Amino acid sequence: STDLHAQSDRRPGSHKGFVEEMRFVAMRLHTRDQAKEGTLEESALPIQEWRPTQQDYLQFLVDSKHVYEFFENFMEQSQDNMFVNFKQTGLERVPALEQDLNWFRQRGFTVPEPAKPGTAYVDYLLSLVQDKPHALLCHWYNFYFAHTAGGRMIGRLMSKLLFDGHVFEFYKWERDVKEILDQVRVKIDETAKDWPREVKDDCLKETGLSFSYSGTILGHLAK
Ligand code: HEM
Repeated sequence: STDLHAQSDRRPGSHKGFVEEMRFVAMRLHTRDQAKEGTLEESALPIQEWRPTQQDYLQFLVDSKHVYEFFENFMEQSQDNMFVNFKQTGLERVPALEQDLNWFRQRGFTVPEPAKPGTAYVDYLLSLVQDKPHALLCHWYNFYFAHTAGGRMIGRLMSKLLFDGHVFEFYKWERDVKEILDQVRVKIDETAKDWPREVKDDCLKETGLSFSYSGTILGHLAK
C-alpha cells in the first residue's frame, strides 16, 4: 500500500516543482483557441470578435485594480511566513493601474466604482484568508501570471481596437517581466516545497475558481 500511496502523490509537473503543477492545471483550463495546451472547447466568442466600448475597458481596468489591491495589500500586511516571498516581487500592478485611470480622467472619463465581477472576487478571496490561506497562492499565481500571457495579448488587441494603439501602464513592468516571472517561480517552489500533498491539492483545486472569477472580469470585454 505504500507503493500505491507514492503513486497517488505524483502529479503532472510535480517533478519540476509546485509552480509547474499549477501551470499544468491552468493550461488545461484554457480553450483550444486560447492556448496550444488548452483542452476546452473553443469559446463562443473568440477574442478577435470582442467589441467592447471604451467604458467597458475602463470598467475592466477598475475591476482588475480592485483585485490587485486586495492581493498587494494582503501581501504587504500578512504576518504569515508563507507570504513573505510575495511582497514587492516586481509584478505589482496597482501603481500602474492608478496611472492608467488618471489617463482616463484627463480625457474626461468618470472612473466608476468596482462592479460585481471585481467585488465578488475580492469577497471570495477575503473568505479564504482565515480558512484556506494556502489557496490564496493559487489565485495570486493565476491572476498575475495570466495577465503576463493572455492578458497582454488581449491588451494589445483592445488598445488597437479602442485607443489607437495606446500602450497602458498596466502592460509595462519596471524590469523585463520574463525575468521577474522566473524569480517568482523560484519563490513559489521554495514556499510550497514542504507543503503536504493534501495542502498542495487544495491549492491546485482553486484553479477552476480562479478561472471563473477572472472570466467574469474579462466579461467586461467579451461582448
Ligand atoms: C498562459 C492565453 C485566460 C492563466 C497562457 C498562454 C496563453 C494564454 C497564450 C501562454 C502559453 C504558453 O506559455 O505557451 C489566454 C487567453 C485567455 C487566457 C487568450 C483569455 C481569453 C486565462 C485565465 C487564467 C489564465 C482566465 C487564470 C486566471 C494562465 C496561466 C498561464 C497562462 C497561469 C501560464 C503562464 C506562465 O507559465 O508564465 N494563457 N489565457 N489564463 N494563462 Fe492564460
